[in-house]
Amino acid sequence: MTTTVMTTTIDLTERTVGDIAVEMPLSIRVFEAWKIDYCCGGRTSLTDACAAAGKSVAAFVAELDSLTTVPEAASRDWQADTLTATAARIVGTYHNYTREELQTITPIAQKVLGVHGERRPELAEVVALLGELTADLLPHMLKEEQVLFPYVDQLEEAAAGRRSAPTPFFGTVKNPVRMMMAEHDRVGELLARLRQISDDFTAPETACFSYRELYRRLAELELRTHEHIHVENNFYFPGAVALEDRAGQPNTLVDGCGTHGCNH
Ligand SMILES: [Fe+2]
Ligand SMILES: [Fe+2]
Repeated sequence: MTTTVMTTTIDLTERTVGDIAVEMPLSIRVFEAWKIDYCCGGRTSLTDACAAAGKSVAAFVAELDSLTTVPEAASRDWQADTLTATAARIVGTYHNYTREELQTITPIAQKVLGVHGERRPELAEVVALLGELTADLLPHMLKEEQVLFPYVDQLEEAAAGRRSAPTPFFGTVKNPVRMMMAEHDRVGELLARLRQISDDFTAPETACFSYRELYRRLAELELRTHEHIHVENNFYFPGAVALEDRAGQPNTLVDGCGTHGCNH
């Protein structure tokens, strides 16, 4: 086991946290616990990320080895599927949840503000930040579902030789990807601010049930949004760009199975 860990340590130091999160979903638990940004900041090397968190890569590997159970949302092997199937799972796992959660959590936040706002002024900012998150995320997800995902579906069809390459109005997939990643950055900032003003989502000792429930759900929203952004930034978007490079030129269809990373 020692040899394996040492080998893993050497290999991992050269990798980015985003790639590690894709290849070893269990690592997401450690990243979250150590507050390492693996989604918007996915291009940071593990060495640098651990150093910024005051940890060593060896400690990271040891922590990873100690985990035996995998949270459902983080246990998926996102690399095993086509991009079309991945997009469907992103919608089913993250978009639907996010829409529903933002809709139901906001009235709870407003209620808690109404009851506790005088003594806890940060609750007004919690409500405001939830409003900003909603205003940002709803149109963002709609753009992915109505523009980006259908285009990538068509690219996969083209790569499999079932249709000609699509001609997008946005030129190249790199343009919407750049826009989506910038919007992810903004969402990441809003979530970080939420965590900061809520003392890491810690309700006061005397808090009522609604107050505690609000913070529990905000913490879950943060976790699931990190995973959501991670899957898109570190897996789906790079896969879409690579696919367009292979299949996106009209009249230059390539043979392929249409699976991410598969050049057969
Ligand atoms: Fe999304
Ligand atoms: Fe997104």
